Parts: sequence; structure tokens; C-alpha cells
Amino acid sequence: MKESIIIIGANGQIGTELATALREKFGIENVVTSDIREPQNLKDGEIFETLNVLDKSAIESLFQKYKPTQVYLLAAMLSATGEIYPQKAWDLNMNGLLNVLDLAVEYKISKIFWPSSIAVFGPHSPKTNTDQYCVMDPNTIYGISKLAGERLVEWYQENRGLDIRSIRYPGIISWKAEPGGGTTDYAVHIFYDALKKGTYECFLSEDTALPMLYMDDAIRGTLQLMDAPKESLTIRSSYNLTGVSFTPKELAEEIKKILPNFTITYSENDPRQAIADSWPASIEDSPARADWNWKPAFDLAKLTVDMIENLKTNKI
Ligand code: SER
Repeated sequence: MKESIIIIGANGQIGTELATALREKFGIENVVTSDIREPQNLKDGEIFETLNVLDKSAIESLFQKYKPTQVYLLAAMLSATGEIYPQKAWDLNMNGLLNVLDLAVEYKISKIFWPSSIAVFGPHSPKTNTDQYCVMDPNTIYGISKLAGERLVEWYQENRGLDIRSIRYPGIISWKAEPGGGTTDYAVHIFYDALKKGTYECFLSEDTALPMLYMDDAIRGTLQLMDAPKESLTIRSSYNLTGVSFTPKELAEEIKKILPNFTITYSENDPRQAIADSWPASIEDSPARADWNWKPAFDLAKLTVDMIENLKTNKI
């Protein structure tokens, strides 16, 4: 079957690279990117539509125009910004999802991808090797919206026949497009500052371990999950997924192996510290491994080398 794909929220950190991967896989003419912001540069043949995911009739027009078979919904407000604008975060994260799900039923979209997050866990969740199923008491608006989203996603599959695939992404590390408004963003900013200034002031404490994933792994995992036969999927909410877990101090040590003069300082009293403290330090992902052969390829050393090489060659 010929696929027709729409990515909503395509200009963010993940969308930028997912769009490239999907265009390569399905053909440039079969992938439409959309976002509330204009793209910085559009290559020949790339199709872009300006879209606010809260405007349901605008989504409907896109569905009528392009008749998508797959929709990737990436528009969301992340954890740190969500705490500053809770109402807006809730509205965007929940109503954006509901708009897409309702229209997906109406327009019989075959497959949907919607990311959840490690933010669905909370202070009473196990701190290490956090299980797919455990106590989940998120205490950020972002995490609450993602957990509610997971429940909605499962409900729409049980009751409305949709096929929705989802991953609980950890912090994503990448060099092509910067993240915005998240608690894990330090793990990207540190590389820019290491190369530009030789020093970085980290907003998390040196021993704050968080689950992370390199973008190459994130994209590969997402495509793998979307390709997996439906019968093999035992999780219809959102899959736990592990890449690598580390602290700011461990990351700084790894960067120093390549940039020996790099120094790091740690700021205190940043509100993102409390968010990080409520999240797991590491994730247990056996269902993803069993159901669709998930296995990360990038460890801390490999991603550090790749980040520095690519930022140096392409960005800085
Ligand atoms: N990277 C996200 C955040 O920090 C986690 O899903 O908000």
C-alpha cells in the first residue's frame, strides 16, 4: 500500500529528524510536514503546511487534502515550559491529541504515532530500572498530560479501532535541531557550550542521573515500532525504552576525554531540578525488546564522540 504521511509539530527536535527519515523511507512526495512555525529551510520537493494542532478544522482540511495513512503527532509543550504555562500545556497536549484521535477515527487513518515520556513517572515510581507497569504519580503538568494521553490512546484503540503506537521517550540528545523547554535539555546544551565557550553552567546537580537516548536510536526505534506487526505488540499505551542513563558529571567527564580543557559548574535552585528528581534514573524496557526487537546502539562514549564531531563539522 502506498503510504501518505503527515507529521504534526515537525519543526521541533524530533520532528526535524523524523521528517528526514520518513522522506527517505517513503519518498519526499509522500511526507507532509506541518507546524505552527514556518520551517527554516525547505528543500526542493518538500511539502510543508502551517498548522495549529488546536485548530481541528485545519487538521481536517489537511486530512481531506492529503488523505494520510499515517500521522505522527509531535506537537507538545515540554516539562519545564509546561510548569510556567500549565493551562496552555494542558490545552495543547490534551486537545491537540484529542483533535487528531477524533479525526483519525473519522478519516480512518491506519496508523498513528504519538510520543509519551519518562515524565509519566513520579516521585513514588521506582527510581532505577523503572518498570513498564508501576506506581505512576507524575507531578508536572507535562507528565500528567502524557499519562492521561496514554490512557486515551489505549481507550481509542479498544473502543474506536485505531492503531496507535507510542514510546515513552527519555531525554533525546541530538545535534541537528535543539530541544526546547525540557528538563533533559542540559544534555544537548552542554555540547554547544563545550565547543563554543569551553565551559558550561549546568542547571541540574552533578549527580542527577536521567534516562537519555541518542537521536539515531530514537528514530530507528520509532520506525521499528511503526513497522512491527500489530499482533506482536503487547503494550497499547506506550512502551518504556532505554538508551543510556548518566549524570551531568559523567557526561562532563566523557566530554573532557575529547576536550580536555572543558569545565562545568552547577547552578543551584533551578526549578528543573525538582522535575528531574521526580523522574526515574533508569528504565526497564523488556517489552520493547521482546515485542519489536528494540536494542539501543549508542552508549555514552559513542554519543559523545558523534555529537562533538557533528556539531564541529556542521554547526559550530
Ligand atoms: N525531554 C523531555 C523533557 O525534559 C522529557 O520527555 O521535558
